[in-house]
Amino acid sequence: MQLERLIHSQGFGSRKECRELIRAGLVTVNGEIVDNPREDFSTANFRFAVDDEEWEFRDKAYLMLHKPPGFECSHAPQFHPSIYTLFPYPLVGREIQSIGRLDQDTTGLLLFSDDGQFIHVWSSGKKQIPKVYEVTTKHPITESLLKTLLDGVELNDEPGVIVAASACEQGSEHQLSLTITEGKYHLVKRMVAAAGNRVEALHRSHVGGLRLPADLAEGKWRWLSDEDLVQLNAWQA
Ligand code: URA
Repeated sequence: MQLERLIHSQGFGSRKECRELIRAGLVTVNGEIVDNPREDFSTANFRFAVDDEEWEFRDKAYLMLHKPPGFECSHAPQFHPSIYTLFPYPLVGREIQSIGRLDQDTTGLLLFSDDGQFIHVWSSGKKQIPKVYEVTTKHPITESLLKTLLDGVELNDEPGVIVAASACEQGSEHQLSLTITEGKYHLVKRMVAAAGNRVEALHRSHVGGLRLPADLAEGKWRWLSDEDLVQLNAWQA
């Protein structure tokens, strides 16, 4: 693939902008400046640097973020900065999208991709993907709260809509681990409210079989490895 097209496919701007980056000597391959935008390279294991930052060619982007509090899952946020400000510009340039959304005050595991099919499969409710939330409650947790969440609650603002947790385990007086397979707006907060308690803090620890890695600090992102993708699908087994 010609270098100009290759750099463009990785989110570094329009074809013209990528051509200019190359002509300006800002793109290196194997440590050597390549200033011919038409030079051909194989994309297999192709590594390059733009403005001294190293990149590897990836046909599609699959990423995870440890979402910090105070960020909105939107390209046009209203009250808080966008989560997309946490990514380098080429990733935003290749139009990664979050797979589902977390509230601005929710923390934890959030996946991103620019692969439309992947986004569709992992964000549609069809697959019934389990997501695990660590919930801190305002009032002490009771046996009856756990039972209500497992049996199903009628959402206060959606009469007739019953939603049940697929798992619910108490960790401490104010902590529970709740697994849901639906992706409705504010669902955990609405379920806990309908069951007579209140969410004080919310953290997503798992999507499918993938757990938020302990070494991924809040606000940091990384590419999903092949092993992560296996883990993601592992809940189906
Ligand atoms: N449920 C909520 O209430 N908020 C989230 O951010 C995710 C699930």
